[in-house]
Amino acid sequence: MCEAVISLEDRLETEEVIELYGANGWSAAEKPAELLAALRDSHSLATARIGGRLVGLGNAISDGHLVVYYPHLLVHPECQGRGIGKKLMAALQEKYRGFHQQMLTADGQAIGFYRKMGFERAGKTEPMWIYAGRDH
Ligand SMILES: CC(C)(COP(=O)(O)OP(=O)(O)OC[C@H]1O[C@@H](n2cnc3c(N)ncnc32)[C@H](O)[C@@H]1OP(=O)(O)O)[C@@H](O)C(=O)NCCC(=O)NCCS
Repeated sequence: MCEAVISLEDRLETEEVIELYGANGWSAAEKPAELLAALRDSHSLATARIGGRLVGLGNAISDGHLVVYYPHLLVHPECQGRGIGKKLMAALQEKYRGFHQQMLTADGQAIGFYRKMGFERAGKTEPMWIYAGRDH
């Protein structure tokens, strides 16, 4: 059973992060140094552990007052569908409750998940990016 401990004060090891990202097929795993620095330097980082094992994480970048963007949220495939993503997102949303703008880019299957977390399509906007990965 996956009963996860959620933390906003955790410390990450490179190997466990790469394992988590690799298991989900995320291209950021190909840039370990940048990925670890990005997560550690985020405005917030939420982690989920089961028996010490990293099984999920989500990060936030923010101006600290008005706007927060949630770049990454992922749960190990072995533990998806058991409420862990919801707990990670809830921990971050609790911290940024009341912010004028909470944003993210939802892709494919995750759209339904984020709808459940209270997100909706942002008016008539269109998500735009310059992306160096090949996983979208
Ligand atoms: C998307 C993701 C983070 C969700 O985490 P999770 O732990 O699997 O989801 P949870 O079990 O916490 O689900 C929470 C709720 O969302 C629902 N849900 C989960 N995935 C869903 C989906 N694809 N579509 C619709 N609803 C979904 C669950 O049924 C649950 O509903 P409930 O609260 O009514 O029971 C996870 O599946 C994941 O890491 N996927 C791969 C990476 C990814 O796509 N990340 C998003 C970046 S765009």
